[in-house]
Amino acid sequence: MLERIEQIREEGRAAISRASDAAAVEEARVGFLGRKAELTTILRGIGELPPEQRGPVGKTGNEVRRELEGLIDEAKARHERAELDDRLAAEAIDVTLPGTPPVLPGHLHPLTRTRREIEDIFVGLGYRVMEGPEVEHDYYNFTALNYPPGHPARMLQDTFYVDAGSLGPDPALVGSDGEPLTVPPGPRDVLLRTHTSPMQIRGMEEQEPPIFIIVPGRVYRRDSDATHTPMFDQVEGLAVGEDITLADLHGTLLTFARAVFGPDRDVRIRPHFFPFTEPSVEVDVSCFRCGGTGRFENDRCSLCKGTGWLEILGAGMVDPNVFGFVGEHGYDPDRVQGFAFGMGIERIAMLKHGVPDLRMFFDNDVRMLEQFR
Ligand code: DAH
Repeated sequence: MLERIEQIREEGRAAISRASDAAAVEEARVGFLGRKAELTTILRGIGELPPEQRGPVGKTGNEVRRELEGLIDEAKARHERAELDDRLAAEAIDVTLPGTPPVLPGHLHPLTRTRREIEDIFVGLGYRVMEGPEVEHDYYNFTALNYPPGHPARMLQDTFYVDAGSLGPDPALVGSDGEPLTVPPGPRDVLLRTHTSPMQIRGMEEQEPPIFIIVPGRVYRRDSDATHTPMFDQVEGLAVGEDITLADLHGTLLTFARAVFGPDRDVRIRPHFFPFTEPSVEVDVSCFRCGGTGRFENDRCSLCKGTGWLEILGAGMVDPNVFGFVGEHGYDPDRVQGFAFGMGIERIAMLKHGVPDLRMFFDNDVRMLEQFR
């Protein structure tokens, strides 16, 4: 019997040291010390042994039980600690990492904001906002703006051409009586408009003088680099009446420039060429970074490249030839005159907010857009 108890001691020690986790240790406890374990049964049956065996078997049996209990408690504690350490390591969180930022509600795109700002300024001056088609006839985009077919000025504005037949009958060429109108002069091409200027013609066809309109909208050109994208946005302006002069253009654009770029700005106009204005001008605003001095922080101003001026738009007095295309709508070049201007919305927004690359407006990178919240 004593021999068997010693065997159980050895088996128990071996089983406990073999146990690779807390569950296996528990299994060993049940196997060696549980109610149905052999040692338990031996100790429970001591009373039935011959009297001379009771003392040694009880003593050794209890000693083995205590030893195995001690080994089991120790092994269990060791495995539980290791398992806890593993779990803590696996579930570790770095509380110093930045949290997930809350998603803020959306906001207007910087170009939409700039467009609305421009619209507000001109609406405040009494202009009406008009919109027009992006898919346009050659006639409105070029011919009626005094770019005759074949004129080299057309080459500066190559664009995307559309299969005219795919559009079906042109509603613009059907009169209110349903009869086809005479086909306008010029090539019958249909194209993506290269500027908002065609709306000068459509605006004058729709409304007799005096007319004061601005036309925001998308335009398209075969162009692509840091300051040109194949699609961009313009705002056209047209003011025609009986005695509107270049001085009115200057005053209007001065008001505009001060509203957008600050009350201390000045504007200058330089001679230029556009087919549909005579004289034509380009308009500069005094640089708002260097205050027009061309020097900034003891260096050449990087925004205006040291010139003190930033080009913002093209403009001019409407060419009498253009009125010739809308004569039947009340625009007699001997009676009316006026000015037109056209600006790029992206260019205004880039200058105003210091955006270095035009394409950033269209990348939809929230890190950029968020700054215009
Ligand atoms: N349409 C011209 C362009 O896109 C800009 C322009 C110049 C518009 C002079 C005008 C103007 O109305 O008078 O390059």
